[in-house]
Amino acid sequence: MEVRAEFKKFYDVEADALVVTIYEGEKAEEGALRELDERSGGLLQELIGSDEMRGKQGDTVYVHKPGNIRASRLLLVGGGKREDFSVDRVRKMTGSAARFLRSKGVRSMALLRRSQLEVSASAQAAVEGVLTGLFEPDFYKTEDKEERRISELILVAANPGSENELSQGVERGRIIADAINLSRELSNEPSSTLTPTEFAERARETATRFGLDIDVLDEARMKDLGMGALLGVARGSDEPAKLIVLGYTPDGAEPMGNAGELLAIVGKGITFDSGGISLKPADGMEKMKYDMSGAATTLAAMRAIAQLKPAVNVIGVMPTSENMPSGRAYKPGDVLRAMSGKTIEVINTDAEGRLILADAIAYARKLGATRMIDLATLTGAVSVALGTINVAIMGNDQAFIDELRAAAREVGERFWQLPMDDEYRDLIKSDIADIKNSAGRYAGTITAAWFLREFAEGIKWAHLDIAGTAWENERKSYMAKGPTGVGVRTLINYVCNHAGRA
Ligand code: BES
Ligand code: MN
Ligand code: ZN
Repeated sequence: MEVRAEFKKFYDVEADALVVTIYEGEKAEEGALRELDERSGGLLQELIGSDEMRGKQGDTVYVHKPGNIRASRLLLVGGGKREDFSVDRVRKMTGSAARFLRSKGVRSMALLRRSQLEVSASAQAAVEGVLTGLFEPDFYKTEDKEERRISELILVAANPGSENELSQGVERGRIIADAINLSRELSNEPSSTLTPTEFAERARETATRFGLDIDVLDEARMKDLGMGALLGVARGSDEPAKLIVLGYTPDGAEPMGNAGELLAIVGKGITFDSGGISLKPADGMEKMKYDMSGAATTLAAMRAIAQLKPAVNVIGVMPTSENMPSGRAYKPGDVLRAMSGKTIEVINTDAEGRLILADAIAYARKLGATRMIDLATLTGAVSVALGTINVAIMGNDQAFIDELRAAAREVGERFWQLPMDDEYRDLIKSDIADIKNSAGRYAGTITAAWFLREFAEGIKWAHLDIAGTAWENERKSYMAKGPTGVGVRTLINYVCNHAGRA
C-alpha cells in the first residue's frame, strides 16, 4: 500500500473516501467541521446530535457525493470523548474505517487529522491500524476471497511544518504493522507447510534481507550440547527440530553484546502440538498449528528491530519442533536431562512447551544473555484466567516486569501479572528427578512459569503466556479473527525504550 501525506485543505484531497472523526458532544460550529458542514449543505448539523452520529465510539455514517468536496465519499466515525482520545483509539478507528471502506470497494482512503495527539505518534497509529486492520487470514481461499484492495492511504494535515515527524511516524507504523502481520501470517500457516525446517528457512530469508546474524542448530548439534529436553519432545516427529538463533548488533557495537547488556527474546516454536502420547482431544486440535506463535513473534520483532536499529544487542532464540505421538515418541514417566544438567520427569507429554524452552533458555544464557523475555502459548489455563484479553506476565525481577507492563500499556497491549509465591514451586517437585513437567490443573499457568524460572535462575527473566491472546475467535470491527500477533508491539517498544535509556 502506498502511504503519503498531503498538506492541504481536506476538501481539496482527491480520494475515494475521506474519513473524519466526530467527538462526543461536538457541534459543527467551527474549524473543519464547520467548513465541511457548509460544503455539504448542512449535512453535519443535521447528523450530529441525531441518533446516528453522537460521536460515540462505533458510530459510523457513510455518505456518497457529500457536496462540494473532492473526495467522492465521506465516512464520519465517532471518536468518543475528546479528552479520552488516544493513539490506541486511533489504531482501532482507522482499522475499522479501513475494513469498512474496503468492503465498499474503496481503493484510496484519506484520513483527516483532527486530534491534538503528537503528529508522529498518531500517524504511526493510523498506519498500524490500517495495515493490521486489512490483514486477512484467507490465504488459502480460492472462493469468496477478499479480493478488494485499498491501495492508497492519504494522511491529510493542515500544517506542512510537521512533515518530518509525520513521515517518521508513517515509516515506524509500517515497520511495526508489517511485523505484526508477519507474525500472524506464520501463526496461520498449516503445520505441514510451516515445519521447523521451513520456519528456519523463513528466518534465514529474513536474516539475509534485513542484515541479521543467523545460526540454525540441527539435532546433531543439539545432541552435542546435551539438549535432552528439546530432543525428547522432538523424538516423536519425523520432522527434525531446529533451534534458530537470530542476532542483532547495533552499528559499532561488539556482536552479541560482549561485556555489555544482551537481551534475549525466546519464543516457543511448536509448529504442531498434538499433545504427543498424552494426546489432545480432536476438538479444536487444528488450532494447535499456532503453538509456534511465540517464535513467530520473536522472528517478527527481530525483523522490526533490524529496521529500527535501537542501540542495544538483542538475540532471538526460537526452539522449533513438532509434538507428535509415535513408536519413538517420549512417554509419560520418562526422565529427560536438560542442557543445564537438571533432570525432568515427564508426567504429561502435552506439557512440551516448557521442555523446549528450558533448553532454549539455557542456550540463550550460554550465548551471554543478561536479560531475557520468553513468549509462549504455554497453557490452556491462561485462557481460563484471562481469556483473550490479557497476556499473563510473570518473572523473577519486579522492576523488569514493571518496565514490560509499562511498555505494553503504551502500545495498547494488556498484560496482567500473576503471582509466583514460593509455595507454587513445590507443586513441580518430582519424586524421582529434579523437577516434573506438569503439576496438573491447579494454577497451571503459574506452575508452568515456575518450571521455566528454574532454568532462568541468575539472570533477569520475564515470561509472557500468550496462549489466550495469540488467537482471537471473534471478528472485531478493526481486526479479522484468527492470529493476533500479540507481543510484537510491546517487544519493539520495550527494546526501543530500553535502548533509549542505555
Ligand atoms: N500448547 C498448549 C497450550 C495451549 C492450549 C495453547 C490451548 C493454546 C491453546 C500446551 O502445550 C499444553 O498443552 N499445555 C497443557 C499443559 C498441561 C498438560 C500441564 C495444558 O494447558 O493443558
Ligand atoms: Mn502441549
Ligand atoms: Zn504446546
